[in-house]
Amino acid sequence: MTHAQALPGSPHVHYENHRLKVEGVSLEHLAKEHGTPVFVYSKASMLDALKSYQEGFKGRNARVHYAMKANSSLAILQLFARQGCGFDIVSMGELERVKAVGADMGLVIFSGVGKTRAEIRRALEEGIFCFNVESVPELEVINDVALQLNKKAPISIRVNPNVDAQTHPYISTGLKGNKFGVAHDDTLKLYQHAHTLKGIVIKGIDCHIGSQITNMSPYLDAMHKVLDLVDAIEQLGISLSHIDFGGGLGIQYADEQPPSAQNVWSELFKVLDQRGYGQRHIIVEPGRSLVGNAGVCISEVQYLKPGEQKNFCIIDAAMNDLPRPAMYEAFHDIVPLTEHPERPTELYDVVGPICESGDWLGRERHLNVEVGECVAVLSTGAYCMSMSSNYNTRGRAPEVLVDGASSQLIRRRENTEDQLQFERLVD
Ligand code: LLP
Repeated sequence: MTHAQALPGSPHVHYENHRLKVEGVSLEHLAKEHGTPVFVYSKASMLDALKSYQEGFKGRNARVHYAMKANSSLAILQLFARQGCGFDIVSMGELERVKAVGADMGLVIFSGVGKTRAEIRRALEEGIFCFNVESVPELEVINDVALQLNKKAPISIRVNPNVDAQTHPYISTGLKGNKFGVAHDDTLKLYQHAHTLKGIVIKGIDCHIGSQITNMSPYLDAMHKVLDLVDAIEQLGISLSHIDFGGGLGIQYADEQPPSAQNVWSELFKVLDQRGYGQRHIIVEPGRSLVGNAGVCISEVQYLKPGEQKNFCIIDAAMNDLPRPAMYEAFHDIVPLTEHPERPTELYDVVGPICESGDWLGRERHLNVEVGECVAVLSTGAYCMSMSSNYNTRGRAPEVLVDGASSQLIRRRENTEDQLQFERLVD
Protein backbone atom coordinates (compact mmCIF):
# COMPACT_ATOMS: atom_id res chain seq x y z
CA MET A 1 0.00 0.00 0.00
CA THR A 2 1.26 3.50 -0.81
CA HIS A 3 1.62 5.65 2.25
CA ALA A 4 2.14 9.32 1.35
CA GLN A 5 2.50 11.90 4.09
CA ALA A 6 3.61 15.49 3.38
CA LEU A 7 5.94 16.98 5.96
CA PRO A 8 4.80 20.06 7.90
CA GLY A 9 5.82 23.22 6.08
CA SER A 10 7.22 21.29 3.11
CA PRO A 11 4.22 20.45 0.93
CA HIS A 12 6.27 18.81 -1.83
CA VAL A 13 8.39 16.69 0.51
CA HIS A 14 6.70 13.49 1.63
CA TYR A 15 7.20 9.88 2.60
CA GLU A 16 5.99 7.23 0.21
CA ASN A 17 6.26 3.70 1.53
CA HIS A 18 8.57 5.07 4.25
CA ARG A 19 10.96 6.60 1.70
CA LEU A 20 11.39 10.34 1.50
CA LYS A 21 10.72 12.02 -1.82
CA VAL A 22 10.81 15.53 -3.21
CA GLU A 23 7.92 15.63 -5.66
CA GLY A 24 8.25 12.35 -7.57
CA VAL A 25 11.97 11.79 -6.95
CA SER A 26 13.42 9.51 -4.28
CA LEU A 27 16.04 11.23 -2.16
CA GLU A 28 17.96 7.96 -1.62
CA HIS A 29 18.35 7.87 -5.37
CA LEU A 30 19.66 11.45 -5.50
CA ALA A 31 22.06 10.80 -2.60
CA LYS A 32 23.53 7.85 -4.52
CA GLU A 33 23.72 9.79 -7.77
CA HIS A 34 25.27 13.00 -6.44
CA GLY A 35 26.86 12.03 -3.12
CA THR A 36 26.30 13.88 0.14
CA PRO A 37 25.80 16.53 1.36
CA VAL A 38 23.55 17.72 -1.45
CA PHE A 39 20.82 20.35 -1.63
CA VAL A 40 17.59 19.35 -3.42
CA TYR A 41 14.92 21.88 -4.39
CA SER A 42 11.32 21.40 -5.49
CA LYS A 43 10.35 23.52 -8.47
CA ALA A 44 6.63 23.08 -7.73
CA SER A 45 7.13 24.38 -4.21
CA MET A 46 8.75 27.60 -5.49
CA LEU A 47 6.08 28.10 -8.13
CA ASP A 48 3.30 27.52 -5.56
CA ALA A 49 4.90 30.02 -3.20
CA LEU A 50 5.06 32.58 -5.98
CA LYS A 51 1.47 31.84 -6.95
CA SER A 52 0.32 32.69 -3.42
CA TYR A 53 1.67 36.25 -3.90
CA GLN A 54 0.17 36.44 -7.37
CA GLU A 55 -3.25 35.38 -6.04
CA GLY A 56 -3.06 38.13 -3.43
CA PHE A 57 -2.19 40.60 -6.22
CA LYS A 58 -5.11 39.72 -8.53
CA GLY A 59 -6.58 42.81 -10.17
CA ARG A 60 -3.76 44.97 -8.78
CA ASN A 61 -0.68 46.61 -10.18
CA ALA A 62 1.84 44.64 -8.13
CA ARG A 63 5.02 42.68 -8.80
CA VAL A 64 7.34 40.32 -6.94
CA HIS A 65 11.01 41.28 -7.01
CA TYR A 66 12.71 38.15 -5.64
CA ALA A 67 15.24 38.99 -2.90
CA MET A 68 17.93 36.79 -4.39
CA LYS A 69 20.16 36.83 -1.32
CA ALA A 70 17.92 34.00 -0.06
CA ASN A 71 19.16 31.70 -2.82
CA SER A 72 21.03 33.14 -5.76
CA SER A 73 21.67 29.98 -7.78
CA LEU A 74 21.34 30.77 -11.47
CA ALA A 75 18.71 28.14 -12.26
CA ILE A 76 16.50 29.50 -9.49
CA LEU A 77 16.86 33.07 -10.76
CA GLN A 78 16.01 31.78 -14.22
CA LEU A 79 12.87 30.14 -12.87
CA PHE A 80 11.62 33.35 -11.26
CA ALA A 81 12.64 35.52 -14.23
CA ARG A 82 10.60 33.27 -16.51
CA GLN A 83 7.60 33.84 -14.24
CA GLY A 84 7.91 37.60 -14.79
CA CYS A 85 9.56 38.43 -11.47
CA GLY A 86 11.99 41.26 -10.98
CA PHE A 87 14.90 41.02 -8.54
CA ASP A 88 16.02 42.76 -5.38
CA ILE A 89 19.82 42.89 -5.37
CA VAL A 90 22.38 44.07 -2.83
CA SER A 91 25.75 43.83 -4.59
CA MET A 92 27.56 43.93 -7.91
CA GLY A 93 27.81 40.16 -7.78
CA GLU A 94 24.05 39.82 -7.53
CA LEU A 95 23.65 42.27 -10.41
CA GLU A 96 25.96 40.15 -12.57
CA ARG A 97 23.98 37.01 -11.66
CA VAL A 98 20.75 38.63 -12.81
CA LYS A 99 22.48 39.61 -16.03
CA ALA A 100 23.88 36.10 -16.48
CA VAL A 101 20.38 34.63 -16.64
CA GLY A 102 19.28 37.20 -19.21
CA ALA A 103 16.65 38.74 -16.92
CA ASP A 104 15.20 42.19 -17.52
CA MET A 105 17.55 44.69 -15.82
CA GLY A 106 14.70 47.19 -15.92
CA LEU A 107 13.05 45.12 -13.16
CA VAL A 108 16.00 45.27 -10.76
CA ILE A 109 15.84 47.08 -7.42
CA PHE A 110 19.10 47.81 -5.61
CA SER A 111 18.89 47.68 -1.78
CA GLY A 112 21.56 47.80 0.91
CA VAL A 113 23.26 50.35 3.18
CA GLY A 114 26.72 50.34 1.61
CA LYS A 115 26.46 50.58 -2.16
CA THR A 116 29.85 51.54 -3.62
CA ARG A 117 30.37 54.10 -6.38
CA ALA A 118 31.38 51.29 -8.73
CA GLU A 119 28.17 49.39 -7.96
CA ILE A 120 26.03 52.50 -8.43
CA ARG A 121 27.74 53.26 -11.75
CA ARG A 122 27.27 49.73 -13.03
CA ALA A 123 23.60 49.69 -12.00
CA LEU A 124 23.00 53.04 -13.73
CA GLU A 125 24.68 51.80 -16.91
CA GLU A 126 22.44 48.73 -16.81
CA GLY A 127 19.32 50.88 -16.43
CA ILE A 128 17.93 49.31 -13.25
CA PHE A 129 14.43 50.17 -12.06
CA CYS A 130 15.28 51.83 -8.76
CA PHE A 131 17.83 52.35 -5.98
CA ASN A 132 16.46 51.96 -2.47
CA VAL A 133 18.36 54.71 -0.69
CA GLU A 134 19.24 54.09 2.94
CA SER A 135 20.96 57.34 4.07
CA VAL A 136 21.62 61.02 3.30
CA PRO A 137 25.26 60.47 2.25
CA GLU A 138 24.23 57.60 -0.03
CA LEU A 139 21.72 59.86 -1.77
CA GLU A 140 24.50 62.41 -2.40
CA VAL A 141 26.81 59.76 -3.83
CA ILE A 142 24.10 58.38 -6.13
CA ASN A 143 23.36 61.92 -7.33
CA ASP A 144 27.05 62.55 -7.95
CA VAL A 145 27.63 59.32 -9.91
CA ALA A 146 24.48 59.93 -11.97
CA LEU A 147 25.61 63.47 -12.87
CA GLN A 148 29.01 62.16 -13.93
CA LEU A 149 27.26 59.75 -16.28
CA ASN A 150 24.84 62.41 -17.44
CA LYS A 151 21.94 60.31 -16.16
CA LYS A 152 19.18 60.59 -13.63
CA ALA A 153 19.11 57.91 -10.96
CA PRO A 154 15.66 56.53 -10.08
CA ILE A 155 15.29 56.30 -6.31
CA SER A 156 13.04 55.36 -3.41
CA ILE A 157 13.93 56.21 0.14
CA ARG A 158 13.87 53.31 2.56
CA VAL A 159 12.01 54.45 5.62
CA ASN A 160 12.67 52.86 8.97
CA PRO A 161 9.17 52.81 10.47
CA ASN A 162 10.29 51.84 14.00
CA VAL A 163 8.08 48.77 14.03
CA ASP A 164 9.03 45.61 15.92
CA ALA A 165 8.92 42.69 13.46
CA GLN A 166 8.87 40.30 16.47
CA THR A 167 11.62 38.17 15.02
CA HIS A 168 15.25 37.25 15.82
CA PRO A 169 17.25 40.44 16.63
CA TYR A 170 19.78 39.68 13.85
CA ILE A 171 17.05 39.69 11.20
CA SER A 172 14.92 42.53 12.54
CA THR A 173 15.61 45.63 10.50
CA GLY A 174 12.83 48.15 11.11
CA LEU A 175 13.67 49.35 14.62
CA LYS A 176 15.35 52.65 15.54
CA GLY A 177 18.55 50.92 16.64
CA ASN A 178 19.05 49.14 13.30
CA LYS A 179 21.48 50.31 10.62
CA PHE A 180 18.78 50.22 7.96
CA GLY A 181 16.74 52.96 6.33
CA VAL A 182 16.10 56.60 7.17
CA ALA A 183 14.32 57.49 10.42
CA HIS A 184 10.60 58.02 9.93
CA ASP A 185 10.85 61.60 11.24
CA ASP A 186 13.66 62.55 8.82
CA THR A 187 12.09 61.07 5.69
CA LEU A 188 10.04 64.07 4.63
CA LYS A 189 13.07 66.38 4.76
CA LEU A 190 15.10 63.94 2.71
CA TYR A 191 12.41 63.69 0.00
CA GLN A 192 12.38 67.50 -0.22
CA HIS A 193 16.15 67.50 -0.58
CA ALA A 194 16.14 64.66 -3.14
CA HIS A 195 13.59 66.62 -5.15
CA THR A 196 16.16 69.41 -5.66
CA LEU A 197 18.98 67.13 -6.88
CA LYS A 198 19.61 67.19 -10.61
CA GLY A 199 20.88 63.62 -10.83
CA ILE A 200 17.91 62.11 -9.00
CA VAL A 201 14.40 61.20 -10.05
CA ILE A 202 12.07 60.21 -7.23
CA LYS A 203 10.12 57.05 -8.01
CA GLY A 204 8.73 55.65 -4.80
CA ILE A 205 9.02 54.83 -1.14
CA ASP A 206 10.41 51.67 0.43
CA CYS A 207 10.24 49.82 3.71
CA HIS A 208 11.46 46.41 4.93
CA ILE A 209 11.03 45.64 8.61
CA GLY A 210 12.69 42.28 9.02
CA SER A 211 12.66 38.63 8.14
CA GLN A 212 10.85 35.46 9.28
CA ILE A 213 7.79 37.52 10.30
CA THR A 214 5.01 35.15 11.33
CA ASN A 215 2.10 37.44 12.09
CA MET A 216 0.18 40.25 10.44
CA SER A 217 0.39 43.00 13.02
CA PRO A 218 3.89 44.36 12.27
CA TYR A 219 2.97 44.49 8.58
CA LEU A 220 -0.23 46.41 9.30
CA ASP A 221 1.58 48.85 11.61
CA ALA A 222 4.31 49.43 9.03
CA MET A 223 1.82 49.88 6.20
CA HIS A 224 -0.03 52.62 8.10
CA LYS A 225 3.22 54.39 8.93
CA VAL A 226 4.40 54.24 5.32
CA LEU A 227 1.07 55.51 4.01
CA ASP A 228 1.14 58.41 6.53
CA LEU A 229 4.41 59.39 4.92
CA VAL A 230 3.08 58.95 1.39
CA ASP A 231 0.22 61.33 2.30
CA ALA A 232 2.69 63.89 3.66
CA ILE A 233 5.19 63.59 0.77
CA GLU A 234 2.50 63.95 -1.88
CA GLN A 235 1.03 66.97 -0.10
CA LEU A 236 4.37 68.64 -0.79
CA GLY A 237 3.82 68.07 -4.49
CA ILE A 238 6.27 65.16 -4.78
CA SER A 239 4.53 62.22 -6.37
CA LEU A 240 5.45 58.61 -5.70
CA SER A 241 4.67 56.18 -8.45
CA HIS A 242 5.31 53.05 -6.39
CA ILE A 243 5.28 51.72 -2.84
CA ASP A 244 7.84 48.99 -2.10
CA PHE A 245 6.86 47.06 0.99
CA GLY A 246 9.95 44.84 1.23
CA GLY A 247 9.93 41.15 2.07
CA GLY A 248 10.10 39.33 5.36
CA LEU A 249 7.22 36.87 5.35
CA GLY A 250 8.12 33.86 7.48
CA ILE A 251 7.86 30.14 6.76
CA GLN A 252 7.18 27.08 8.87
CA TYR A 253 10.39 25.56 10.25
CA ALA A 254 8.77 23.97 13.31
CA ASP A 255 5.34 24.92 14.63
CA GLU A 256 5.18 28.49 13.33
CA GLN A 257 1.89 29.31 11.57
CA PRO A 258 2.70 32.24 9.29
CA PRO A 259 -0.16 33.64 7.24
CA SER A 260 -0.01 32.84 3.52
CA ALA A 261 1.27 35.52 1.15
CA GLN A 262 -2.19 35.61 -0.37
CA ASN A 263 -3.78 36.38 3.02
CA VAL A 264 -1.15 38.95 3.93
CA TRP A 265 -1.73 40.77 0.67
CA SER A 266 -5.49 40.62 0.70
CA GLU A 267 -5.32 42.23 4.20
CA LEU A 268 -2.76 44.82 3.14
CA PHE A 269 -4.74 45.72 0.03
CA LYS A 270 -7.76 46.38 2.29
CA VAL A 271 -5.67 49.01 4.06
CA LEU A 272 -4.38 50.36 0.75
CA ASP A 273 -7.96 50.57 -0.56
CA GLN A 274 -9.25 52.29 2.58
CA ARG A 275 -6.55 54.90 2.26
CA GLY A 276 -6.97 55.39 -1.48
CA TYR A 277 -3.81 53.66 -2.67
CA GLY A 278 -5.26 50.35 -3.86
CA GLN A 279 -4.34 50.94 -7.49
CA ARG A 280 -0.83 52.26 -6.82
CA HIS A 281 2.12 50.27 -8.23
CA ILE A 282 3.09 47.92 -5.39
CA ILE A 283 6.43 46.13 -5.14
CA VAL A 284 7.39 43.32 -2.78
CA GLU A 285 10.83 41.83 -2.17
CA PRO A 286 10.29 38.35 -0.71
CA GLY A 287 13.13 35.88 -0.40
CA ARG A 288 12.64 33.17 2.22
CA SER A 289 8.90 32.68 1.62
CA LEU A 290 9.56 31.82 -2.06
CA VAL A 291 12.34 29.29 -1.62
CA GLY A 292 12.78 28.32 2.05
CA ASN A 293 10.38 25.38 2.24
CA ALA A 294 11.35 24.19 -1.25
CA GLY A 295 14.77 22.88 -0.19
CA VAL A 296 16.18 19.95 1.75
CA CYS A 297 19.82 19.10 2.44
CA ILE A 298 20.63 15.40 2.37
CA SER A 299 23.49 14.27 4.54
CA GLU A 300 24.99 10.89 5.49
CA VAL A 301 25.46 9.75 9.07
CA GLN A 302 29.19 9.23 9.61
CA TYR A 303 29.37 8.27 13.27
CA LEU A 304 27.07 7.72 16.21
CA LYS A 305 29.08 8.80 19.21
CA PRO A 306 27.78 8.11 22.68
CA GLY A 307 28.89 10.85 25.11
CA GLU A 308 28.92 11.22 28.88
CA GLN A 309 26.05 13.69 28.81
CA LYS A 310 24.80 13.50 25.24
CA ASN A 311 24.83 11.28 22.23
CA PHE A 312 26.10 12.81 19.02
CA CYS A 313 24.96 11.99 15.53
CA ILE A 314 27.83 13.20 13.34
CA ILE A 315 26.75 13.86 9.75
CA ASP A 316 28.68 15.00 6.69
CA ALA A 317 26.92 18.39 6.39
CA ALA A 318 28.19 21.14 8.63
CA MET A 319 27.92 24.79 9.60
CA ASN A 320 29.67 25.76 6.37
CA ASP A 321 26.70 24.27 4.44
CA LEU A 322 23.96 25.12 6.95
CA PRO A 323 25.03 28.19 8.92
CA ARG A 324 21.61 29.17 10.35
CA PRO A 325 21.71 27.07 13.56
CA ALA A 326 25.18 28.39 14.47
CA MET A 327 24.31 31.99 13.57
CA TYR A 328 20.78 32.35 14.88
CA GLU A 329 20.20 29.16 16.88
CA ALA A 330 17.70 28.45 14.12
CA PHE A 331 15.65 25.25 14.10
CA HIS A 332 15.59 22.97 11.04
CA ASP A 333 13.78 19.66 11.30
CA ILE A 334 15.96 16.61 10.62
CA VAL A 335 14.34 13.41 9.39
CA PRO A 336 15.60 10.05 8.07
CA LEU A 337 15.46 9.35 4.34
CA THR A 338 14.02 5.94 5.16
CA GLU A 339 11.62 5.51 8.04
CA HIS A 340 12.13 2.52 10.33
CA PRO A 341 9.11 2.55 12.62
CA GLU A 342 10.18 -0.77 14.15
CA ARG A 343 13.47 0.61 15.51
CA PRO A 344 13.72 2.40 18.88
CA THR A 345 14.80 6.05 18.78
CA GLU A 346 17.71 7.65 20.60
CA LEU A 347 18.21 11.26 21.60
CA TYR A 348 21.04 12.96 19.70
CA ASP A 349 22.62 16.30 19.08
CA VAL A 350 23.12 16.32 15.32
CA VAL A 351 26.48 17.89 14.53
CA GLY A 352 28.89 18.34 11.63
CA PRO A 353 32.58 17.50 11.37
CA ILE A 354 33.86 21.10 11.72
CA CYS A 355 36.18 21.80 14.62
CA GLU A 356 33.93 24.10 16.64
CA SER A 357 31.27 23.46 19.25
CA GLY A 358 29.09 25.88 17.26
CA ASP A 359 28.96 23.33 14.46
CA TRP A 360 25.60 21.87 15.38
CA LEU A 361 22.60 21.40 13.12
CA GLY A 362 19.96 20.16 15.54
CA ARG A 363 19.82 19.69 19.29
CA GLU A 364 18.02 16.96 21.21
CA ARG A 365 16.53 15.16 18.24
CA HIS A 366 14.89 11.76 18.42
CA LEU A 367 16.37 9.66 15.60
CA ASN A 368 16.71 5.98 14.81
CA VAL A 369 19.31 6.17 12.08
CA GLU A 370 22.37 3.99 11.59
CA VAL A 371 25.82 4.83 10.27
CA GLY A 372 25.83 5.02 6.47
CA GLU A 373 22.16 5.99 6.30
CA CYS A 374 21.05 9.48 5.30
CA VAL A 375 19.00 12.23 6.90
CA ALA A 376 17.33 15.27 5.35
CA VAL A 377 17.65 18.69 6.96
CA LEU A 378 14.39 20.40 6.04
CA SER A 379 13.45 23.90 4.89
CA THR A 380 16.95 24.66 3.69
CA GLY A 381 16.05 26.42 0.43
CA ALA A 382 16.69 29.92 1.83
CA TYR A 383 19.82 31.37 3.42
CA CYS A 384 21.70 28.06 3.41
CA MET A 385 23.53 27.61 0.09
CA SER A 386 23.70 31.39 -0.35
CA MET A 387 25.36 31.73 3.07
CA SER A 388 27.62 28.69 2.74
CA SER A 389 31.40 28.96 3.01
CA ASN A 390 34.55 26.94 2.48
CA TYR A 391 35.43 26.84 6.20
CA ASN A 392 37.71 23.90 7.00
CA THR A 393 38.46 23.82 3.22
CA ARG A 394 35.21 22.05 2.60
CA GLY A 395 33.83 22.29 -0.91
CA ARG A 396 30.33 23.67 -1.28
CA ALA A 397 27.62 21.06 -1.79
CA PRO A 398 25.98 20.50 -5.18
CA GLU A 399 22.40 21.55 -5.88
CA VAL A 400 19.70 19.58 -7.69
CA LEU A 401 16.38 20.89 -8.97
CA VAL A 402 13.46 18.46 -9.01
CA ASP A 403 10.59 18.93 -11.42
CA GLY A 404 7.93 16.23 -11.10
CA ALA A 405 9.59 12.88 -11.71
CA SER A 406 12.83 14.34 -13.10
CA SER A 407 15.83 16.01 -11.54
CA GLN A 408 18.68 18.11 -12.84
CA LEU A 409 22.05 19.07 -11.35
CA ILE A 410 22.10 22.89 -11.26
CA ARG A 411 25.43 23.28 -9.49
CA ARG A 412 28.16 20.67 -9.25
CA ARG A 413 30.07 19.90 -6.08
CA GLU A 414 33.07 22.16 -5.48
CA ASN A 415 36.37 20.30 -5.36
CA THR A 416 39.61 21.29 -3.70
CA GLU A 417 41.08 22.38 -7.03
CA ASP A 418 38.25 24.91 -7.35
CA GLN A 419 39.23 26.34 -4.00
CA LEU A 420 43.00 26.40 -4.54
CA GLN A 421 42.83 28.14 -7.92
CA PHE A 422 42.71 31.64 -6.38
CA GLU A 423 45.79 31.22 -4.24
CA ARG A 424 49.52 31.65 -4.93
CA LEU A 425 52.56 30.36 -3.06
CA VAL A 426 55.04 33.06 -2.04
CA ASP A 427 58.32 33.41 -4.01
N1 LLP B 1 14.52 43.14 1.17
C1 LLP B 1 15.55 43.53 1.94
C2 LLP B 1 15.96 44.93 1.86
C3 LLP B 1 16.19 42.63 2.80
O1 LLP B 1 17.20 43.05 3.56
C4 LLP B 1 15.76 41.28 2.86
C5 LLP B 1 16.43 40.31 3.72
C6 LLP B 1 14.70 40.90 2.02
C7 LLP B 1 14.09 41.84 1.20
C8 LLP B 1 14.17 39.49 1.99
O2 LLP B 1 13.66 39.11 3.21
P1 LLP B 1 12.92 37.69 3.35
O3 LLP B 1 11.65 37.75 2.53
O4 LLP B 1 13.85 36.64 2.87
O5 LLP B 1 12.65 37.57 4.81
N2 LLP B 1 20.13 35.19 6.86
C9 LLP B 1 18.93 35.38 7.65
C10 LLP B 1 17.94 36.28 6.94
C11 LLP B 1 18.51 37.63 6.56
C12 LLP B 1 17.53 38.51 5.82
C13 LLP B 1 18.22 39.71 5.26
N3 LLP B 1 17.41 40.59 4.49
C14 LLP B 1 18.33 34.03 7.97
O6 LLP B 1 18.89 33.02 7.58
O7 LLP B 1 17.31 33.93 8.67
